[in-house]
Formats: sequence, structure tokens, C-alpha cells
Amino acid sequence: MSGSEAFNDIVGALIFPIFAATTKRTDDDETAAGCLVGFASQTSIDPPRFLVGLSKRNHTFRTAQHSTHLAVHVLSREHLATAQLFGSETGDHIDKFARCAWDPGPLGLPILTDAAAWFVGRILERFDVGDHVGHLLEPIDGSASEMTRDWVSFADVRDLAPGHEA
Ligand SMILES: Cc1cc2nc3c(=O)[nH]c(=O)nc-3n(C[C@H](O)[C@H](O)[C@H](O)COP(=O)(O)O)c2cc1C
Repeated sequence: MSGSEAFNDIVGALIFPIFAATTKRTDDDETAAGCLVGFASQTSIDPPRFLVGLSKRNHTFRTAQHSTHLAVHVLSREHLATAQLFGSETGDHIDKFARCAWDPGPLGLPILTDAAAWFVGRILERFDVGDHVGHLLEPIDGSASEMTRDWVSFADVRDLAPGHEA
């Protein structure tokens, strides 16, 4: 088995958390964007850091290029429909934010009402990681008062057809 075949088998079998990442252009409140992300992980404890990979093809990526921050949401499995909306539709064709409940949060970023927990991170660095761009975040605000252990994972959404191919 080649290294890439083994790798594909491994990552296809792993169950990891899935988040909804949102953003908006810093200079324009009318540009909310967001998508489902699985390529996301804490990278440091002190200082706290989190990395989000955004596909270069995604509307969310293009909007994030004009933003200083991202909001990262944990969704509970009771809100799977919201995960489906953000993962299988693209802001290039529809306004996802007309189809879900949200409020402007820190810096006007869209915060999803269905989120069990969320944080906003300042984008410290962007770097090419392949077909995605890594966004290194410094958490600056958030809420975890309804944090759940029943969060949406890859197992719940692995069969979704993404709004954009990676
Ligand atoms: C299980 C799953 C995981 C995904 N992970 C990511 C990811 O880490 N980064 C990303 O940019 N897109 C990811 N996507 C794809 C986007 O969520 C999807 O293409 C979305 O429709 C893009 O919306 P946009 O064009 O409005 O940004 C994932 C989709 C699914 C179903």
C-alpha cells in the first residue's frame, strides 16, 4: 500500500469534530460568509492558538481574505440541519444567513444562534497548506455556556456533498 493510500484510509476512518466557521469583510457588514470545516485544530495551549484550513475554492475563503477575524462554532447534533446548510451550499449561489438565525457578535462577525459554543479568533497568520489556506487564530472572545459533548462530528456529515469541491 502506498503512503498516500494508507493516509487516505486513516483519515477516512477518523472521527473528528466539525465546526462552522463564519466571517465577514472587515470593511462591509453586508458580506457574511461561512462554511463547515473539519480541517481545524488547537495548535498551542500557551499562548492559545487554533488553526482553520479554508479551501481556496470557497466563498468563505475569498471573504476571509478581506477580514481580520473568523468565528468558530461548535454545533450540537440537534442542529445537524445547520451543519448541512453550511457544508452543502455555497455563498456563491445562496445567502446562507437568510436561512438560519444569527446575530452580529464581536466586530460584527455573524454568530450562529444554533451554536452550542463559539469563539472569535484574530487571524495572526495565513499560510498555504495545499488546496487549503491555514488561518492561525488567537481567540479573543467567545461563549461556552451551552457547550455540549453531543457535537457534530465527521461521522454525522461525511456523506454531505460539499458546496464546493476541495
Ligand atoms: C465533512 C466536511 C468537512 C469540510 N471541511 C472543510 C474544511 O475544513 N475547510 C473548508 O474550507 N471547507 C470544508 N468543507 C467544505 C465546505 O464546507 C463546503 O464546500 C461549503 O459548501 C463551502 O461554502 P462556501 O463556498 O459558502 O464557503 C467541508 C465539507 C464537509 C461536508
